[in-house]
Amino acid sequence: MNHIPVMLNEVLELITTHANKSHLRILDATLGLGGYSQAVLERFGDSYVLGLDRDEEAIRLSRERLKDYEDTSRFEAIHANFGDMDTIINNHAPFDVFMFDLGVSNMQLTLPERGFSFNSEGLLDMRMNPSGDSMTAADVLRESDEKTLAKIFYDYGEEKFSRLIASAIKKNKSAINTTSELVNVIRSALPQPVQRKMGTHPARRVFQALRIYVNNETEELERVIMTLEKINHDALIIFVSYHSLEDRIIKHSFRQWQNDNKGRILTKHPLTPSDSEIGNNYKARSAKLRAFLTIKYNAKFLI
Ligand SMILES: C[S@@+](CC[C@H](N)C(=O)[O-])C[C@H]1O[C@@H](n2cnc3c(N)ncnc32)[C@H](O)[C@@H]1O
Repeated sequence: MNHIPVMLNEVLELITTHANKSHLRILDATLGLGGYSQAVLERFGDSYVLGLDRDEEAIRLSRERLKDYEDTSRFEAIHANFGDMDTIINNHAPFDVFMFDLGVSNMQLTLPERGFSFNSEGLLDMRMNPSGDSMTAADVLRESDEKTLAKIFYDYGEEKFSRLIASAIKKNKSAINTTSELVNVIRSALPQPVQRKMGTHPARRVFQALRIYVNNETEELERVIMTLEKINHDALIIFVSYHSLEDRIIKHSFRQWQNDNKGRILTKHPLTPSDSEIGNNYKARSAKLRAFLTIKYNAKFLI
């Protein structure tokens, strides 16, 4: 199982430029398979990393990968939702760096039983935290009315044919329980010429929308932003996002923080992956990186 970390060089460069000091304390809020964590532990020799993930399988795999660092107390991982950042910050000494690499990992996408992928057959689950969250994607399809489904597909997937697809789902004679059943309904709802013009898999946007909705991804992002804006010490905050809705939330929050003198925006325009990175890892193509440096309140008047 592999996940190629996205925009890793840019993340390391930002930390080197804006947070380089001995005994760095780094919070990797979206541990995934530990790609970012491993790189910072290697690069910053005496740093400490706390990794969070709401997916227990990600915690298990990254602990396995980073066992040597865990054994020397440089790395710890906890099963947690970054939306609960308030509690996490209260229980630990301050962090110098906060890293967020939003969305799903390749592990989640490639395990068919997790139901995230339109390319592999599995139950339509899509919960990042199957032991904690109760509503699966199949439940959402069954329990939501046509209008609500269309809104989910439009808001979170920017799907132009949201109403057509929602109507086909509700008209389908039997409940939709698997990834391939959903793909088939979407394919049958969209005329062939439309599918040809889409330039992507016809189910991609609907799958993305359902995943964001099932996991409350926008709400969790808004929750963590409310905690981060209370930080009152020097810290570097890095977000890599893959969806315009998330990028907008991050962009507006950073602007607001800067206007409120909480620190400064380091990326006037978002950084995006180089052509060669996209060539090596097509999944990186929609990534946008934004960074902010918070400044301790008393020091703000000196700059
Ligand atoms: C794109 S992957 C991170 C990959 C990681 N940077 C690496 O290099 O291996 C995103 C991870 O964030 C986790 N995640 C998403 N939303 C989360 C949340 N609200 N709280 C904690 N983890 C979350 C997902 O379960 C997934 O494992």
